[in-house]
Amino acid sequence: MAKPINEFVNKIICGNCLELIKEIPSSSVNLIITSPPYFKQRDYGGYEKEIGNENRAEEYVENLLKLFYECFRVIKNDGSIVFNIGDKYENSSLLLVPYRFAIEVLNKLPVKLVNDITWVKLNPTPRQFRRRLVSSTEPFFHFVKSDDYYYNIDEFMNLLDKSRTKRNGNGNNLGKKYFGLIENSELLEEQKRRAIKELEEVIEEVKSGKLYSFRMKIKGIHSLPFGGQEGGRKTQILKKGFTIIKLHGNSIKRDVIESPVETIKGAKHPAIYPEYIIQELLKLLTREGDIVLDPFMGSGTTAFACKKLRRNYIGFDINQNYCKSAVNNLKEIKINNAITEWII
Ligand SMILES: C[S@@+](CC[C@H](N)C(=O)[O-])C[C@H]1O[C@@H](n2cnc3c(N)ncnc32)[C@H](O)[C@@H]1O
Repeated sequence: MAKPINEFVNKIICGNCLELIKEIPSSSVNLIITSPPYFKQRDYGGYEKEIGNENRAEEYVENLLKLFYECFRVIKNDGSIVFNIGDKYENSSLLLVPYRFAIEVLNKLPVKLVNDITWVKLNPTPRQFRRRLVSSTEPFFHFVKSDDYYYNIDEFMNLLDKSRTKRNGNGNNLGKKYFGLIENSELLEEQKRRAIKELEEVIEEVKSGKLYSFRMKIKGIHSLPFGGQEGGRKTQILKKGFTIIKLHGNSIKRDVIESPVETIKGAKHPAIYPEYIIQELLKLLTREGDIVLDPFMGSGTTAFACKKLRRNYIGFDINQNYCKSAVNNLKEIKINNAITEWII
């Protein structure tokens, strides 16, 4: 029986996610982002209802699918569901478990798979296999319920865009030469004032990362472009005395995220996913104040990212020690006023 969503918001709840999720009302969550236990990979405490210890990959996928039906029910129409799953070798052969799961989801539910985002591990476990290569990628499947899914592409990986911009010169010297050129140009005083104002504005745009770079052409200094349409650059130079060419760069947003495996000293959890990836996906798929559910919260990574980015979280995990540790670590994050409680 579903309870009001407020009863779950900013709480870590200890129990079996397959049961707990049934208490969440329909169409109430903006994003589900999670990493279930991988098939036959680890023991998270030996709980009876623990997922991952099934005998066959088919049973494992079936159990995940039971959860996915509930995820589909609780997600809002414009929401997203992101599952990160790792693969497994059996008898020296990969089972392709993540893809079996994704195909089952697509076969059984009216969802769309927007991307299969590849996490490239920068520090995979150092092993020396003689007959195969070291696996160092994992998929993050991004499913949606409708074509109206919330999507903020500008916010995704924009720090990378900014660092790229920096490399291309956004220091204090940015655009400096143009100030001198304007001053010594043949422009009228009014034209000079306008050119300086627009130059200052475009410099700000580059510094803030909105723009990759720019070029300026000034009458009497730079050559006029050939041809061009009425109202184009040539006309701007002739009438206004200058033109500013804005370069938006080619910061292609790719379906690949490079990030090291989290190796947090003293961490009580053996399989933590990178907070960096979760933060980027939160920025891409949610707004501030949105509700994010992680049915396999583990050490609390999703909640940490949510709290730092002012999203609301709901976390489930079957293991009480992980729940306690996540709550304690959440208290250390003093970003907003989110109240964290622990219910047994
Ligand atoms: C891969 S880990 C998640 C790690 C997490 N993403 C992090 O960064 O710490 C999977 C988690 O699922 C939990 N788990 C296993 N079966 C569960 C179940 N039926 N309900 C809720 N949690 C479960 C395990 O205790 C484990 O912490």
